[in-house]
Amino acid sequence: MSENQAIEEFYTENRTFPPRETFTSNALLTDPQIYNEASEDYESFWAKQARELLTWHKDFTNTLEWNLPYAKWFSDGELNISYNCLDRHIENGKGSKVAYHWEGEPGDTKTITYQELLDEVSKFSNVLKEFGLKRNDTVAIYMPMIIELPIAMLACARIGVAHSVIFGGFSPDAIIDRCEDAEAKMIITADAGYRRGEPSALKVNVDTALENGAQSVETVVVVNRCDLDINMNSGRDFWWHDVMKDAIPICHPEPMPAEQLLYLLYTSGTTAKPKGIMHTSAGYLTQVAFTHKYVFDLKPDTDVYWCAADIGWVTGHSYIVYGPLANCTTSVMYEGTPDTPRESLRNGPERSEWSKDRLWDIIERYKVTQLYTAPTAIRTFMKWGSDELSNHDLSSLRVLGTVGEPINPEAWMWYHEHVGRSNTPIVDTWWQTETGGHMITPIPGITTTKPGSACFTIPGVFAEVVDDDGNKVEQGGGYLTITHPWPSMLRGIWRDPDRYLETYWSTYEGKYFAGDGAKIDEDGYLWLLGRVDDVMNVSGHRISTAEVESALVDHPAVAEAAVVGATDETTGQSIIGYVILRGSSEESDDLRNEIREHVATKLGPIARPKAVFLVPDLPKTRSGKIMRRLLRDVAEGRNLGDTTTLADQSVVAAIQEGAQHSDEN
Ligand code: WTA
Repeated sequence: MSENQAIEEFYTENRTFPPRETFTSNALLTDPQIYNEASEDYESFWAKQARELLTWHKDFTNTLEWNLPYAKWFSDGELNISYNCLDRHIENGKGSKVAYHWEGEPGDTKTITYQELLDEVSKFSNVLKEFGLKRNDTVAIYMPMIIELPIAMLACARIGVAHSVIFGGFSPDAIIDRCEDAEAKMIITADAGYRRGEPSALKVNVDTALENGAQSVETVVVVNRCDLDINMNSGRDFWWHDVMKDAIPICHPEPMPAEQLLYLLYTSGTTAKPKGIMHTSAGYLTQVAFTHKYVFDLKPDTDVYWCAADIGWVTGHSYIVYGPLANCTTSVMYEGTPDTPRESLRNGPERSEWSKDRLWDIIERYKVTQLYTAPTAIRTFMKWGSDELSNHDLSSLRVLGTVGEPINPEAWMWYHEHVGRSNTPIVDTWWQTETGGHMITPIPGITTTKPGSACFTIPGVFAEVVDDDGNKVEQGGGYLTITHPWPSMLRGIWRDPDRYLETYWSTYEGKYFAGDGAKIDEDGYLWLLGRVDDVMNVSGHRISTAEVESALVDHPAVAEAAVVGATDETTGQSIIGYVILRGSSEESDDLRNEIREHVATKLGPIARPKAVFLVPDLPKTRSGKIMRRLLRDVAEGRNLGDTTTLADQSVVAAIQEGAQHSDEN
């Protein structure tokens, strides 16, 4: 272990899961030759996919123009995104096929076919036009998980208006920042959406935002989801049902240039102002359609696919809306949280005040074939216990996916055994808002998986793990870089080219720097190690949070864990662990020490946490990422910085209490 090693690796995993015959006998992709084909000529490979998966108004002759750091894919081609997601399927006789089985949190349901979706989208495109919106304008969307949300997005795409979806959990300040940066002319919202049995207000936040800024917004369109009595500002605010009443359900899908801006999606950096990540049309749709089809082994005629994310995140953009619809998928869309008050479950089991089996209930009722969710959700299900699944028939599931964070091997195994009944492949998909679509993931009919590893780059994408000096690491830890442009890559940061260059392209010359640590093992498998900002430096050893957290969760008493490096006079930093125990485990000093020792045994003494705090919960963003910055503040006894993106504000107080309590003991 040398001092200049970027990030050291401590963990080794020996379990492997080759694709099963029962799966490969019917899988879309089983021949690894596709990787060679893509490596030999990746531009031709993507050109072929673009022509096979999409319908073009005008074919392209230029596959890629690459002027680092700016890529243009298929630039002289023309297509319309909403035509590709809707009209062409209807032309192929699929008008009566279900696009979404939607389920509200209170248990109300709605089914919308491709033809109905096209009608609604066309109507709303006409509404947008009526309000004066035209190509290259931007519109903000701040909505719950209701069908009107994809309708609004596709209606924008149909006429070349770029949307900027603002996650429904964000505050008025976030609305102001995003609307001002994008100069949004309209906000599409709802009175509220249901979350944990209650309407969670949206329109009042829009009102507050517009009282305090966001001057560019002229119009607000409001869906009535919860029948709340809300303020409607005359001349500015319009009900969705009113403006849609007489709208005409026919709107020509205008051919758009391949590089037409499709959307902005803001990602919050840890400190600075959010970055408006830009995604354009044809390249984006090519890669999301390709990955959605082959990574989930999607069979549109028989599958019922469910991505249980929120459309407010990129996962929802790419894998609830654009990818699935481009592939003529039948999807499930669900409004609420995995635990819901009991009375909201139709015919639900009466076991406890809150039902914790909503996901399994939905999978059983709709016979879901693919489930795509986040490691944080899986660890929550682990904490709730496998009994929650026992009364549900999950045998329809064929492929399981995860995204958003490194999945620790124990959570992977739990997902495999309890949800996948030990015979369903798991695809651990690494990607980012910036990458638009999957980049590193198994392909279920080809890849032998290892629990906790995202395995390999997809065909046509190329990654390298590098050390501090940018030299390629053949085996061991380092930083993840992408070495060639890819079709769904971000096209920049909205109105901030300098920041684009600086954030992604200046750390390693000629390569995209993802900001993640990664290691490559002796078989060439990639393991993601978390954000490099979170890497801990203990006596000169750079240790990833992901490995220590995995080792903590590996202890039978531990359900969830987060670690941070806190300043330490002797070692530079010391590792502090925050741990949530499984339901049945009792707190004690002995247990804390045992957990610390467990890490030392798994990874070596250098990785032994100096302290382990038992806490009731962990601070997370609404997309489920642990906010380690806040935990560092707690560990170092500082006042907390910005907590606006925190999902549950009460968690930090509980942790501070938990940390104090553990200290006292
Ligand atoms: C992390 C979500 C490990 C990573 C699509 C990345 C992952 C950030 C994985 C992007 C995974 C996402 N394994 N880490 N399978 N997937 N990440 O922009 O740190 O919300 O850089 O996009 O999530 O988060 P974002």
